[in-house]
Amino acid sequence: MPRREWTDIEVEELSLKFEVEPAEELLRWAVETFYPNVALAFSGQMEDVVLLDIMHRVAPGRVRAFMIDTGRLPEEIYELVEEVRRRYRVDLEVYYPDNAKVEEMVRLYGPNLFYGGPQYRLLCCRVRKVDVLKRVLSGLDAWITGLRRDQFPTRAITRKVQIDHDNFGILKLAPICDWTFEDVANYVRERGLPYCRLYDQGYTSIGCAPCTRPTFVATGNITAEELRKGRWWWERGTPKECGIHCSLEAGTFERHMETMFKLRISKD
Ligand code: ADX
Ligand code: SF4
Repeated sequence: MPRREWTDIEVEELSLKFEVEPAEELLRWAVETFYPNVALAFSGQMEDVVLLDIMHRVAPGRVRAFMIDTGRLPEEIYELVEEVRRRYRVDLEVYYPDNAKVEEMVRLYGPNLFYGGPQYRLLCCRVRKVDVLKRVLSGLDAWITGLRRDQFPTRAITRKVQIDHDNFGILKLAPICDWTFEDVANYVRERGLPYCRLYDQGYTSIGCAPCTRPTFVATGNITAEELRKGRWWWERGTPKECGIHCSLEAGTFERHMETMFKLRISKD
């Protein structure tokens, strides 16, 4: 069956409706409307564990979740995946980058090319992550992410329901985009959910091992920049984005970079 084409007005209405409702309602609607063609993008961060937990409550037995294994993830993420599989009895779908592309990239630029500059880092993110996501989303009608507005200025305008113009016009849902880092941590703590042990070592955002380090910021009034300053920590003036939420092709990444540059100039 051909994919439904969403109009801006339809999606705006959904977005406004779910903006004032708890995450449970959006997730219930998503599963009822799209299952089995809807899945949670699970990175192993606390946000995704929260979403998985809510989905299990509102739609037991109808939960699909996938993870992109870039090949450079920290060991602690695999440990969490084992825990999550046991607790939720979910067959987490794991997808891998294209072998030939990785082999070519590493032959040309080396395994740690990302430290060579943003263009190499973005190439690596593209080969190991963005292209893989596109392949997964080609088989879906909607995907669910743990994006939050206070994670970074690039995410401040995240809507709960959006058309994903970078990925076939399917729906992109962000049911907890209005939660703070503390809301997420409290939910995990209060319900005794499994979480990645790296949080106990000072991490506040977790991506690939060579590109993430701890931030040691205490919970409370954390700024967006502080939360993600451990990601690609060696870069200056580039958006803390890998491209799966900030398209290079559509120029979104570059627009954000320009804005950051102007902001820096105006501060100097
Ligand atoms: S990223 O663009 O910088 O990598 P971030 O780590 O903040 O994204 O995660 C935001 C959301 O993107 C996660 O909550 C999850 O939904 C999705 N995501 C990120 N990385 C992955 C991954 N490796 N596999 C599946 N989903 C992911
Ligand atoms: Fe490559 Fe680092 Fe991006 Fe992971 S986060 S895909 S290792 S550049």
